[in-house]
Amino acid sequence: MERTFAMIKPDGVRRGLTADILARIQRKGYRLVGLKQMVISRETAENHYAEHKERPFFGELVEFITGGPVVAIALEGENAILGWRGMMGATNPANAAPGSIRADFATTTGENVTHGSDSPESAQRELGLFFKAEELLK
Ligand code: PPS
Repeated sequence: MERTFAMIKPDGVRRGLTADILARIQRKGYRLVGLKQMVISRETAENHYAEHKERPFFGELVEFITGGPVVAIALEGENAILGWRGMMGATNPANAAPGSIRADFATTTGENVTHGSDSPESAQRELGLFFKAEELLK
């Protein structure tokens, strides 16, 4: 069993896609072990995306992700990290596999509806950034 951090970004929440995305996660068979709607602070956003600090779009990314409520999700399942990345599809929706969330719901790399940790190390770090231990099911 593996845990990963998933997020429905502000564009997904604003567009009313939360229920659809949670349904996909549950139909896949992942267990929701943490779930909350929240507005991310600037500090948390800068921390979460620290590895992209030098990239030209960093400021825009932080503005976007703090600009409205998100849904933070802790997922559990076999190979959940890669599995959730596969369900989301490629970062650029133009390259996302047909049937994936980004292929179905997004047109731009900046506003691409969901986020998912890209490695076990990122998953652990991001879960710790968004959830207190007592907010996660055992
Ligand atoms: S990846 O998956 O890490 O290789 O993708 P990458 O291209 O490195 O992008 C990392 C995150 O930055 C977001 N992004 C952007 N935001 C705003 N504007 C532009 N131009 C842009 N390009 C990339 C992208 O959606 C990734 O967000 P996350 O939340 O990690 O999916």
